[in-house]
Amino acid sequence: MKTIFLLIVIIGGAFYYLYSGRYNVAATVPHTKPMEWMLGEMKEKSIEYHSRDISTPALDDPSLMEKGFGLYDDMCSGCHGAPGAEPAKGFNPPPPALTEIAGGLEPRETFWVVKHGIKMTAMLEFGSTHTDDEIWAIAAFVDRLPGMTIEDYERMKEESDGRAR
Ligand code: HEC
Repeated sequence: MKTIFLLIVIIGGAFYYLYSGRYNVAATVPHTKPMEWMLGEMKEKSIEYHSRDISTPALDDPSLMEKGFGLYDDMCSGCHGAPGAEPAKGFNPPPPALTEIAGGLEPRETFWVVKHGIKMTAMLEFGSTHTDDEIWAIAAFVDRLPGMTIEDYERMKEESDGRAR
């Protein structure tokens, strides 16, 4: 009896809090620590789980890297930054600097995130506008990003200038 009463109080309290509007969804206010932890774990585990059966094609072809560079420079660097360029500000959650964290993601995880996007964040999906081959090219490029210097990036930019992307 006591347990049921306690459960009703807890569930009632949670609903009261939810509907009271007290939780602040403003991007200018950080999440509470427990919420930040929960969302972070959910994202990481969800990416791992949903990409687990994707088989990765060979990604070391230089033409794939070049194609991936063009697409990344056009569509991703504005938010995620590039060697020598900081990620965009003003988003909550912020776009991580892929030049730093990409090494922590398997290419199939990057592929899955780019294809499907991430709910309730600025991370949009590219699966409805781009082919799997294009998305693999992006994943191949992102995988190499952490080792890339400003000079490497600039050189790729010069080499790709004037070419159709
Ligand atoms: C409008 C801004 C925006 C653009 C454009 C964008 N992203 Fe994102 N991306 C985000 C944000 C914000 C997050 C963080 C989501 C989160 O933390 O839940 C994110 C997350 C990611 C992640 C997951 C990183 C992690 O936390 O594990 C990857 C990988 C990624 N983006 C790759 C890309 C690639 C590649 C492109 C270009 C094809 C791209 N994004 C374009 C905003 C953007």
